[in-house]
Formats: sequence, C-alpha cells, structure tokens
Amino acid sequence: MLNSLSAAAPIGVFDSGVGGLSVLKAAQAQLPHEDFIYFADSGFAPYGDKSDGYVIERSEHIGAWLVAQGVKAIVVACNTATAIAVQALRAKYALPIVGIEPGLKPAIAATRSGKVGVLATARTLASDRYATLLARMQAQAPNIIFMPRVGEGWVEQVERGKFNTPRARQMVEDIVAPLVEAGCDTLVLGCTHYPFLSHVIQAAAPHVAIIDTATAVARELVRRIATESVSNDLAQVGSLRLATTGDCTSVTLLTERMLGTRPQSISQAGILQTS
Ligand code: DGL
Repeated sequence: MLNSLSAAAPIGVFDSGVGGLSVLKAAQAQLPHEDFIYFADSGFAPYGDKSDGYVIERSEHIGAWLVAQGVKAIVVACNTATAIAVQALRAKYALPIVGIEPGLKPAIAATRSGKVGVLATARTLASDRYATLLARMQAQAPNIIFMPRVGEGWVEQVERGKFNTPRARQMVEDIVAPLVEAGCDTLVLGCTHYPFLSHVIQAAAPHVAIIDTATAVARELVRRIATESVSNDLAQVGSLRLATTGDCTSVTLLTERMLGTRPQSISQAGILQTS
C-alpha cells in the first residue's frame, strides 16, 4: 500500500502521442476528482513501426519522468507500449501500472458472424503479448476468426488532427472495406489513436460493432486506486497538466478538441533523446 500522502498525487497517463487522450477522457469521466498528468510523446511518435528496444527506452524515460513528478499510478494508454514495455515498467516501479490491450474478449461476445477485424500497430500485432492474448481467446472461442490489420498511416493522420479529411476517409476505407467484405461484423480498435477515427470507420462500415477498451481501462484504474486506498478527496475538482516532446501548441489544440476542455498547463519536455 502507498502512504496516505500519495492520495492527493496526480495520475500519470502516457502514449506515443495524442491517442491516449481517448483513454484519459474515459479516466477523467470516472475519476473527476483526480488530477492527471498526460504525457504525449509526439516528438517520438509513432511507436508502432519502431523496434522493441525503442519502445522500451521511450516508455522507461517517460515512466521515470512521471515518477519524478510524484504520480501515484501510471496508465500506459498505448497498446504498443503496453505490449512491449509494461513488464519492464512494472519491474521498476511499485506503483499501480495499468495497461491497455486489444479487446478480443468483448469482440467474441459481440460478433454474430464469427469474424472479427483487429486493427492495431505492426508492433502490437507482432508482439508476444498479443500472441499470448490471441491464443488464450482462441482457446475459449475456437470458432472465431480474428483478422489482424495495421491501420497504415492512421496514427500520423490523428497526430496531425486530420480526422475527417478525404485522405483519412480513403485510408480507413482501404483497410476496413476488405474486412467487411470478408464477413467481419466486429472491429477491435487495438490502438488508442484509432478511436479518434471511429466516426470515419463507422461510416465505412455502418453495420459493424466497434470495440474500444478505454472504458474498461478506466474501470481497472478506478479499481487499483481503490485497492491501494489512494483515492483523492471526492470534493476536489481534478486538473489536467500536459507535457509533450512534440509541439505544445498543436498538442494543446488537439487536447481541447478531443477532450472538450482546456488543460491547466502544458510544458515542453525536451528531455529524453532515444538512441
Ligand atoms: N497509440 C498507440 C497504440 O495504442 C501507438 C501508436 C503509435 O505510436 O504507433 O498502440
């Protein structure tokens, strides 16, 4: 258990960029009395096509930075960083560390056709953690066919705030249409950037169920905060502080657009070069 002083400490949330704001949004909705620090590693995004070593190094730098800010818990709001680096972070820090993984389980419950598209980064889909999750789910539901696909270029579109441009629509169509044609009636968003393209995905596949695990991750965070007895005073109104290795102005604008609220502060984290 953490000491009682930690209850007023903020919760750290990070992603390779602005994608994890989809998780932060769900976390803020369930924990409106908590302070959050969101770290957008936009200067080093995307992670999804980099090596394991790169993702681990980035995650460890950011983890150390968040711990230095005194956070009481960390949310790895990135499927790729969870797949590759969450174990390394958990080995280093005794804090609650909550990760995110593609929602194969809810997809099994949702699908009627038995065919599920899994949209994620190349790094996530190639990871041992994803292979283990897939094997576990296939053991429970051997008849379900999972079709993994990388949302090529989608992360970059979201980082640029280009959610509903003709190019974004084309990129989504190129990946989603063949999945629908192949019989998928359920699509798992296995990258936290992808929920910002949900409306475009839904337009390309109007009758398909879209699975996003942000709310489940927020629930797990609530549970861990309660278990550790580090809940902030319920009468408090939580704040949001942003830090980024990218461009402060554009990350602030995207945050306002995605969350509908203005962060209390934003700082440039010029720290942390990666070899
Ligand atoms: N948002 C991330 C994820 O959930 C990573 C995207 C990227 O940087 O490639 O996987």
